[in-house]
Amino acid sequence: MTGKFISFEGGDGAGKSTQLSLLSGDLEALGRRVILTREPGGTRLSEQIRSWVLHESGALCKQAELLLIFAARAQHISEVIRPALLRGDWVLCDRFTDASYAYQGGGRGIPVGLVQQIEAVSTEGVRPDLTLLLDLPVIQGIERSVGRGQGSDRFEEQDLEFKQRVRQAYLDRQSDEPDRIRIINATKSVESVHTQIWDLVSNLIDREDD
Ligand code: TMP
Repeated sequence: MTGKFISFEGGDGAGKSTQLSLLSGDLEALGRRVILTREPGGTRLSEQIRSWVLHESGALCKQAELLLIFAARAQHISEVIRPALLRGDWVLCDRFTDASYAYQGGGRGIPVGLVQQIEAVSTEGVRPDLTLLLDLPVIQGIERSVGRGQGSDRFEEQDLEFKQRVRQAYLDRQSDEPDRIRIINATKSVESVHTQIWDLVSNLIDREDD
């Protein structure tokens, strides 16, 4: 696959959307074809699953949540991500598999080994070349999301401890895979965060022909 795959991760209010669109603009200005997508979501079916997982008002057990998210991901990979990478496009994805380790693993308490098994049957080995973990203290993220004034989903309405476990699970994954997952200090200004991101993406551009 000749394209490049970058995922953005982080808790609520980390500024992923702003940074995704800034990076997309820069890459397009350099003549790259960019696919901007998100998880759960990115295809018609996966977007339907997203609305169940984020807004289902009845009970949704944690195993069903995990399987639905990976079903959405399998469809997204097969319909959008893999074809784009085969065409040589750049895929920028708002969250990917690391989010399942953070939210379903860390947050909901599903054992890591189980998430790994589901990953193995769902993702055809597709993994990002680079994952940008926009990290900031949980409280600061919550304050920012409240400031945005959007309605909350099944994850945003979780308590502080859940969100702290999610952050910790992301940081643990980063220490396990420090070359792929890079921490971005998301407490800084939009411009400073963008500069941190661009420094890392420039390395990927330099290695594009590898
Ligand atoms: P967001 O894209 O607006 O951040 O919302 C997606 C929500 O879905 C977010 O709260 C995290 C959650 N999520 C999971 O729980 N597991 C996953 O694997 C993914 C991709 C997202």
